[in-house]
Amino acid sequence: MNESSAKHILVAGGTGLVGSRLCQELLNSGYRVSILSRREGVSKEGIPLLSWNALDQIIPSVYAVINLAGEGIADKRWSSQRKAAIRSSRTETTSRLVDAYRRCSDRRPGILINASAIGIYGSHDGTPIDENSGVGLGFLSEVCQDWEAAADPVSTLGVRLVKVRIGIVLARSGGALPKMSLPIRFFQGAKLGNGQQGFSWIHLDDLVSILIHCIENDQYQGVLNATSPFPTTNETFTRLLGKQLRRPILPVPAFVTRSVLNLLMGEMADAMLLKGAFVYPKILQNLGFRFKFARPEAAMKDLLG
Ligand SMILES: NC(=O)c1ccc[n+]([C@@H]2O[C@H](COP(=O)([O-])OP(=O)(O)OC[C@H]3O[C@@H](n4cnc5c(N)ncnc54)[C@H](OP(=O)(O)O)[C@@H]3O)[C@@H](O)[C@H]2O)c1
Repeated sequence: MNESSAKHILVAGGTGLVGSRLCQELLNSGYRVSILSRREGVSKEGIPLLSWNALDQIIPSVYAVINLAGEGIADKRWSSQRKAAIRSSRTETTSRLVDAYRRCSDRRPGILINASAIGIYGSHDGTPIDENSGVGLGFLSEVCQDWEAAADPVSTLGVRLVKVRIGIVLARSGGALPKMSLPIRFFQGAKLGNGQQGFSWIHLDDLVSILIHCIENDQYQGVLNATSPFPTTNETFTRLLGKQLRRPILPVPAFVTRSVLNLLMGEMADAMLLKGAFVYPKILQNLGFRFKFARPEAAMKDLLG
């Protein structure tokens, strides 16, 4: 396929952890790729970075948009200003995309793949969660609900909308895994709180493959959970990490890690580390999606081995 006949995919927020890997894989699969970014120029991979202000000019040439844009959830402590930025960087960017689809009546893209997160379900003790489960409580759940609601109106334009509720992404560099591995490497690893909270994760390669399936397969529509079929507890995941890194895990009492994390992170500690949910990718499994890294041991071996 030459450059001019290749389908053009626009990745909003394509400079981040997920986006940079996704863009590389899209190029490898023969797509033409552009990134919508707050910066202009070219990405590290040589992909054009286009301005959000140029959206109306770009959109008629685009086959599908994958929207990953948003301020990092765990980058800074959640002040009220930070929370507003986390929310608006998702809802406003998504609304801008939907408005651009609306204005482009004759050659609008047929597909919008919008990121969301499993945080929408809130925290649940042992109950298995799938796409039929209700939404939960708390800041992250509210942000995800608003984010998905901002994308919904695109469906009324006849656009196929996929809302991908992403689990904790495991990657070699960036994201949760290096942060979780660091104390373990320094012989300071311990489960967080009582360790029984759900840890619903996905290997970056599987997530990228899911996002590409969303472009290529019309059956991918509406909400789907992008998590491995084997969510685990924080305690089990930590123990497996210790085994992979050949380090002991310390028997620290629950109240110690809980108090330290609450002190250091405030509200984020409960929302992101001390509570969780066991989220299952029921729709992906019904669609026959094959995970390359279904088990946590396989993902760790690939990423840390
Ligand atoms: N990583 C995970 O474990 C995980 C889990 C669940 C859900 N998700 C969601 O999946 C998406 C992609 O995740 P990621 O880990 O790749 O995120 P990331 O590395 O933080 O990248 C997000 C991108 O969004 C853009 N962005 C940041 N602030 C923005 C703002 N105020 N306005 C417009 N764009 C902004 C940035 O691109 P520019 O600087 O180029 O503009 C950045 O590269 C995120 O929305 C995230 O919430 C991620």
